[in-house]
Amino acid sequence: LTGTALLTGCNNHDMSDIDMMPDMEGMGPAVKETPFTTPLRFPETVTGSAQLTAKSGTEAILPGKNARVLGYRNGILGPTLRVQSGSEVTFRFSNNLSEDSNIHWHGLLVPAEMDGHPAQVVRAGESFPYTFRINQAASTAWYHPHPHEKTARQAYLGLAGMIIVETPTERALNLPSGSYELPLIIQDKRLDGTGSPQYTPTMQDVMMGFMGETITVNGVGGAFHPVATRMYRMRVVNGSNGRIYNLALSNEAPFWVIGTDGGLLPTPEAVTALLLSPGERADLLVDFSKLPVGTELYLKSNTFPGASAQGKQAFNILKFRVDKAETDSFQMPASLATITTLSTAAVAKSRSFSIGMNMGNMNMGNMKGMHTINGKVYSMDRIDETVKLGDTEIWDFDNKGDEPHPMHLHSTFFQVLSRVGGRNTLFANEKGWKDTVLVMPGERVRVICRFDKPGLFVAHCHNLEHEDDGMMLNFRVS
Ligand code: C2O
Ligand code: CU
Ligand code: CU
Repeated sequence: LTGTALLTGCNNHDMSDIDMMPDMEGMGPAVKETPFTTPLRFPETVTGSAQLTAKSGTEAILPGKNARVLGYRNGILGPTLRVQSGSEVTFRFSNNLSEDSNIHWHGLLVPAEMDGHPAQVVRAGESFPYTFRINQAASTAWYHPHPHEKTARQAYLGLAGMIIVETPTERALNLPSGSYELPLIIQDKRLDGTGSPQYTPTMQDVMMGFMGETITVNGVGGAFHPVATRMYRMRVVNGSNGRIYNLALSNEAPFWVIGTDGGLLPTPEAVTALLLSPGERADLLVDFSKLPVGTELYLKSNTFPGASAQGKQAFNILKFRVDKAETDSFQMPASLATITTLSTAAVAKSRSFSIGMNMGNMNMGNMKGMHTINGKVYSMDRIDETVKLGDTEIWDFDNKGDEPHPMHLHSTFFQVLSRVGGRNTLFANEKGWKDTVLVMPGERVRVICRFDKPGLFVAHCHNLEHEDDGMMLNFRVS
């Protein structure tokens, strides 16, 4: 099997392969729970530098069905990359697909020429060494392709992986580690009769984001994981193209948010539910220590309001079975990290971005461009914003439409200043450094950040259908 088989007919903006029939429920495919009988798998962990080859392979997403997928390993997804802050790493990327690809290090502060800008692609059959020094707080990041108009399909078919940044300060907190630390990449897939993910977006899928009926964790549908009576750390990446999860436990017990996109929060935040949109990460502590052996518990997604078509269904994601009594000496740290608040007094410039639909851009010959920022469809060689190196700015995202947009900036982390309209509040995971923030319909979200990396970067909606459709801009820092 070659990359060609999976990637032919992949121009999702060509009217000829778009099914114009809207989905009758108007909410994309409903989630279909498969029995939670397959042991959860974890992509292998690689420490330091690594070779990453994008290629096709097979993976049993559903038991007994060998799905055709893409991955940076033998199977779906990529290895979990564990890197030490302060170290220099090289990830040599080889593109064994039949089309352009590249790698973006989402949540790593890397130089512009290593960031996987859509204009920096690696052609089919070619290689590129991504080399950079890691210099940032301990955090959970991830990596995925970023070629213009091909990101959604490639990520959906399996090209994504987790990155764990470690520091001595974080290690000193003695958070659960080893088998008590679970990397979880959550994605939904639309599987065909052979159990293989299909990517054939209809017009409605481009509007809402491509959603699937099968929820996978680390590429496994209907997964369970045995746990001991301990505190567990779960590093969750929402690697879905368009689906938002309202993470909760099936016994409605509280859990703790300890970290967000850019690293640990100042203090652990107890919640009973946490909304996680595409691109966002959540570093969580879940306490199984008081549950009797034999207890079964699910990580699930609760319903949630605010998104016109999403959030109407609750479903299970991953089953845990407490099957071993252990003593646990874990102590919840009172404080986790120090976060210096960026001061609005230091702001050099404020920019506002109207995000959403521009129906004027729709025409029957070319569906591209329904999703825009300030009315503009992404153009690879237009610089939309020019930022002075070292400046602190406020970016204001105004969503007047009726779709949720998780807005993401490359090159920097930001702090969320305010959210007005819609949910009208900030959330537990917004008390730390973020790189992706969910802007629900009717919301206006202001973020503050400092631009310390020079060069050309993108900002975009992390609903990958919206992004590929043009909801992205170029900004140059100099
Ligand atoms: Cu994870 Cu530009 O994206
Ligand atoms: Cu990114
Ligand atoms: Cu969007």
